[in-house]
Amino acid sequence: MSSSGLSAVVVLAAGIGSRMASATPKVLHEIGGRSLLGHVLAAAAPLRAAQHLVVVGAGRDVVAAHVAGIAPDAETVVQADQLGSGHATALALEQVRKPGPVLILNGDVPLLTPGTLSDLVATHASAQAALTVLTARVDDAHGLGRILRDSSGAPVGIVEHRDAAPDQLAIDEVNAGAYVADGAALASALERLRTGNAQGEQYLTDAVALFVSDGRTVAAHIAADPSDVLGCNDRIELAARGRILNDRVLRRHMAAGVTIVDPASTWIDVTVEISRDVRLLPGSQLHGSTSIAEGAILGPDTTLTDCVVGEGATVVRTHGTQAVIGPGASVGPYTYLRPGTRLGPAAKAGAFVEIKNADVGKGSKIPHLSYVGDATIGEHSNIGAATVFVNYDGIAKHRTTIGSHARTGADNMFVAPVSVGDGAYTAAGSVITEDVPPGAMGVSRARQRNIAGWVRLQRPGTPAAEAARAAAPEESEPGSEMPEQGGQE
Ligand code: UD1
Ligand code: CA
Repeated sequence: MSSSGLSAVVVLAAGIGSRMASATPKVLHEIGGRSLLGHVLAAAAPLRAAQHLVVVGAGRDVVAAHVAGIAPDAETVVQADQLGSGHATALALEQVRKPGPVLILNGDVPLLTPGTLSDLVATHASAQAALTVLTARVDDAHGLGRILRDSSGAPVGIVEHRDAAPDQLAIDEVNAGAYVADGAALASALERLRTGNAQGEQYLTDAVALFVSDGRTVAAHIAADPSDVLGCNDRIELAARGRILNDRVLRRHMAAGVTIVDPASTWIDVTVEISRDVRLLPGSQLHGSTSIAEGAILGPDTTLTDCVVGEGATVVRTHGTQAVIGPGASVGPYTYLRPGTRLGPAAKAGAFVEIKNADVGKGSKIPHLSYVGDATIGEHSNIGAATVFVNYDGIAKHRTTIGSHARTGADNMFVAPVSVGDGAYTAAGSVITEDVPPGAMGVSRARQRNIAGWVRLQRPGTPAAEAARAAAPEESEPGSEMPEQGGQE
């Protein structure tokens, strides 16, 4: 989208948002993985205005810090007391450096699209208007400002819901809270705002009537999709807007070749990237910077945040954060991938496996019931069931290194720092505290001894004793130890 010629975009974000009933300022509440304010700034960004100003007030420190994080080029303007949207706009206009048209946006209208805003700017230019209001025709106008038009259909004012007469409440065209105006003309009108309304505030919306009485042209641009302009004032609206946004995101991915089996239970942040022929099974939730490569199958019931999934990988009933899952890798079911997990191509993390800060090489497998923390595992190695990488000594974390083509036994403890060389084996049930050289067998467990006849002596008359007698009537006398069995590994 080419530059719109806007001198500035002003986002009003100083309001308390009391209907949210929250310790968090309203504009910082999130849908689709982005704050309400972030959505508004993202919708306006393609217009490439010369300046971006965000008016902050309630919770201004946290809102300003958020703005610095998501839009470093934006400037914040402090409105110390929330005297109304008109007052907030006037403060912002004092900071606009370039003469010309300015776009004013409420900070709580998260479904605005760049297309709707550029249409608004285009209408403003083609109507040669001094002020253009974005409006929408809606089924439920409750709580919103109504657009007043004269007998010729020209907009002449906005009346807030609380100040509206019964016949005005019947109007179904509402103010979306987005306006384009000549900066200097708007500043002059705002100086004349009165506070004789239900809320005792300086309403930005009163600028429409002031422009009309000054003989300036006011235009209205009716949004093609009324859902674009929905505000977000409480938690019920937050959920409803989140649902609409999610539906839009899912449709975009489906149009691009992603199969989404159950849109109702699939939630995808606006920032997620998905390639074609990915299949998302019910209960998939993809957040943050997650990206999914072609042909991968996710779900059911998989939640990934800031993860990278390679081509053709399968990820079943998995919870992952900041993990990399290589192409063709297999994860799940019931797998927990924590930050720093990197599964190589065709690697496997199976059922009830937790991995953290670990590299698992190409084709290596951790199939069952294991914790792998702070480890490097080479290629084509197999980690036995029920293995724990003992990485924490109570003070510091230590690393375990397993080579390539290693076979570690079931129920091992690797007490880090420790290493197992290429091609080495370890015996089942071993606590490995010393390095195992390449090709060696590491065994660390007590030898087994069997005490013959113990059950007959110690548990006489029990079903076990009867079963033993039936199985081995000639068994040696109680109390003597049986000869040791040879190791089986
Ligand atoms: C506002 C409009 C209403 C419109 C609706 C669309 C006014 C007077 N009314 O109503 O016509 O239909 O949006 O969603 O503007 N703000 C400040 N400083 C203040 C007061 C508000 O920065 O002193 C900001 C808020 O953070 C918010 C925006 O201005 O982003 C609008 O305020 P809000 O209280 O949400 O107005 P609505 O009642 O929703
Ligand atoms: Ca609002």
